[in-house]
Amino acid sequence: MPTLAKTHGETQTEEVRGMTSFQKPTILVLGVSGQIGGFVLQHLDKYRQVLNVRITARRPEQVLALRQQGRDAVLLGLDDPTTFAAALHGVDRVFLLTGYTVAMLAQSKTFVDAARKARVQHIVHLGVFGRWDCTDPHIVWHQLVETYIEASGISWTHIHPNMFMEQIPKFMKIRNDRFPIFWGPGRMGWIAAQDVGSVVATVLWEGPAKHGGQNYWLSAEIAGGEELATIFSEVLRRPIRCDYRKPDDFAATMALTGDYRVEPWYAAGALEFLKQFSDGRMGDFGTVRDDTPYLTGTTPRSLQQWVHDNHGALLG
Ligand SMILES: NC(=O)c1ccc[n+]([C@@H]2O[C@H](COP(=O)([O-])OP(=O)(O)OC[C@H]3O[C@@H](n4cnc5c(N)ncnc54)[C@H](OP(=O)(O)O)[C@@H]3O)[C@@H](O)[C@H]2O)c1
Repeated sequence: MPTLAKTHGETQTEEVRGMTSFQKPTILVLGVSGQIGGFVLQHLDKYRQVLNVRITARRPEQVLALRQQGRDAVLLGLDDPTTFAAALHGVDRVFLLTGYTVAMLAQSKTFVDAARKARVQHIVHLGVFGRWDCTDPHIVWHQLVETYIEASGISWTHIHPNMFMEQIPKFMKIRNDRFPIFWGPGRMGWIAAQDVGSVVATVLWEGPAKHGGQNYWLSAEIAGGEELATIFSEVLRRPIRCDYRKPDDFAATMALTGDYRVEPWYAAGALEFLKQFSDGRMGDFGTVRDDTPYLTGTTPRSLQQWVHDNHGALLG
């Protein structure tokens, strides 16, 4: 009977799919040319014997160059859904990372739809450290994406990192032994991009059976202007002072120095974040809440260590 034949066929497909996945799952990693994706790939390379790691780039010449380096690389432009199906073919687990743009809404929606059609089993999403009822736009966008992923029926894990330590040389460059802070005297939560990469790689490797339906929070340490000034002074071996500026100074300073180039929607969200952190509405960003050691078995990098390792980048 056709019904039986179909059922039998589906079961066989499931069995074969399950066995293949169990033996060597294929993991699709987005954003490997960026901060977090680069570290995710670095950590996943440790599991190359037991995982197929497929990476994406959005220009054909980049894909070619990566293939010449021996990588399983595919073309994927988040603004071009016609690239999704081929990139997702045979993929079991996905690391979904979007850039600093409101376009993450359409990009993620269309990408999750394609992942569903491609029978992807697990989406690990890079989000932010926001409380559920937060009103800052950028965090709201990530929450909408997470809600959509959850509704897709695909097993999910949401990663919620606090401020990357890599933001320090971008927004707090030291000029004439002083550096600016645009959110007042409050203490912010921090995590190193390398530790985010390590957590994401662990979750991808261990898969949905262990990590499906989980939210993980990454905020290893808190520090504001005073603590950063102390660390900078120790590492650079001379007194470094913090200039406390207002959130509204942020846009003007960044435009003047050319340090921060981002689309207007995202820039407005960043300003709103600074305002809400300063006035206490987003005070939860100033907390330590860190799943890193539970997931990786390692202690996350401290700010002191990170600044020590990267102090060359701090000087403007
Ligand atoms: N900064 C923070 O403190 C912080 C904290 C928590 C969460 N986050 C989240 O982290 C994410 C950004 O991660 P990141 O810092 O690693 O970003 P990043 O360094 O800017 O890298 C972005 C990556 O995404 C790729 N990409 C961007 N737009 C694309 C598109 N349309 N199609 C295909 N690929 C595209 C880029 O490729 P190209 O090289 O081709 O551009 C690059 O590989 C954001 O979602 C942000 O909300 C940031």
